[in-house]
Amino acid sequence: MPGRSRKGLGTRPFAFYVHVPFCVTRCGYCDFNTYTATELGPGASRDSYADTAIAEVRMARRVLGDADLPVETVFVGGGTPTLLPADHLGRVLDAIRNEFGLAENAEVTTEANPESVDEAYVARLREVGFTRISYGMQSAREHVLAVLERSHTPGRIPQVVDWTRKAGFEHINLDLIYGTPGETDDDWRASLEAALATEPDHVSAYALIVEDGTRLAAQVRRGELTAPDDDAMADRYLIADALLAEHGLRWYEISNWATGADAACRHNMLYWTGADWWGVGPGAHSHVGGTRWWNVKHPAAYAARLAEGTTPAHAREVLDDEDQRIERIMLELRLAQGCPTDILDDKAVRQAIDDGLIQPAPYEQGRAVLTRRGRLLADAVTHTLT
Ligand SMILES: C[S@@+](CC[C@H](N)C(=O)[O-])C[C@H]1O[C@@H](n2cnc3c(N)ncnc32)[C@H](O)[C@@H]1O
Ligand code: SF4
Repeated sequence: MPGRSRKGLGTRPFAFYVHVPFCVTRCGYCDFNTYTATELGPGASRDSYADTAIAEVRMARRVLGDADLPVETVFVGGGTPTLLPADHLGRVLDAIRNEFGLAENAEVTTEANPESVDEAYVARLREVGFTRISYGMQSAREHVLAVLERSHTPGRIPQVVDWTRKAGFEHINLDLIYGTPGETDDDWRASLEAALATEPDHVSAYALIVEDGTRLAAQVRRGELTAPDDDAMADRYLIADALLAEHGLRWYEISNWATGADAACRHNMLYWTGADWWGVGPGAHSHVGGTRWWNVKHPAAYAARLAEGTTPAHAREVLDDEDQRIERIMLELRLAQGCPTDILDDKAVRQAIDDGLIQPAPYEQGRAVLTRRGRLLADAVTHTLT
């Protein structure tokens, strides 16, 4: 790692991401780095995965030296982390705790598929130290779940949320997807209402992306399914923003709404505001002080590297000051707190205010904050302001 990136280590918040690359089946729209086989090679089976991830946590400690790096947030994502026993996830968390220490009130999240947990499992997650669960709900409509190839039924969500609350979790996120072929505005409203009925403190709503190489992309290409157009997507976004706000969930990032500042996902906020994080697992990305690297993608190659005691990193890039400025704009402009105006092209910001894309009042305080219309056109606005 370049000296420049090591500088300031410990002065910026530090986080861990742990990738768990297993799923029971692959959903037709998903291109995440995940595998359905239980046995992918030595150190890369579901049974041995926690030990392999722990080996990388220990390597992280050696690479980062003895700087005091209390971990503010841990996020276990996938794939389907909850395919591993809760105790295995707990052991990875223990390794992070032992090597680095957790900050007081650290946020510890795992993603979970609704069908992959039961009451005892969720209770155990709480006991081993998790503080937040993010469920992949996606939709409350059976025909939408069928197109997405999700295996849970809509009724599963209130059930798992109830178990999660009983286990003592205050922080629950539901992930939703809008724009699935065949979904109507009313279907989308029904999904939002079903999510809200369980009173989560956080909702993420993502526009369905038709990723190249997925079964969904093939179905769209063959004309079997029609991807929704941009106007329908914009309408669904506005429906979400209005309905969520009506129920006390305010946007704090373009695709994320929470009941208050303490319900926002602190881990994602650290990503979006330039913190340092170490990503454990095959294909996981890391970022320390302007250096980004990513691990080899296949779990067997990943495990083999760690077994030999060599780094699982595949490649890295060192961002110069201009790259870092552009990256900041791309991430921070998506936030409700906005982006400092002093890193933006001022003439373009004023034009965006005139065009109704940036809010005038925060500009006076030196922040560029998107209007609702600006959020719909965020990529284009970002482009003009850099
Ligand atoms: C990688 S998944 C992990 C969580 C868990 N495996 C699940 O699916 O429930 C994280 C979230 O990414 C979102 N996602 C994945 N692929 C997507 C796509 N092509 N378009 C939009 N959202 C997507 C889904 O909402 C999903 O809940
Ligand atoms: S369960 Fe989640 S990670 Fe696994 S294939 Fe489906 S969307 Fe992707």
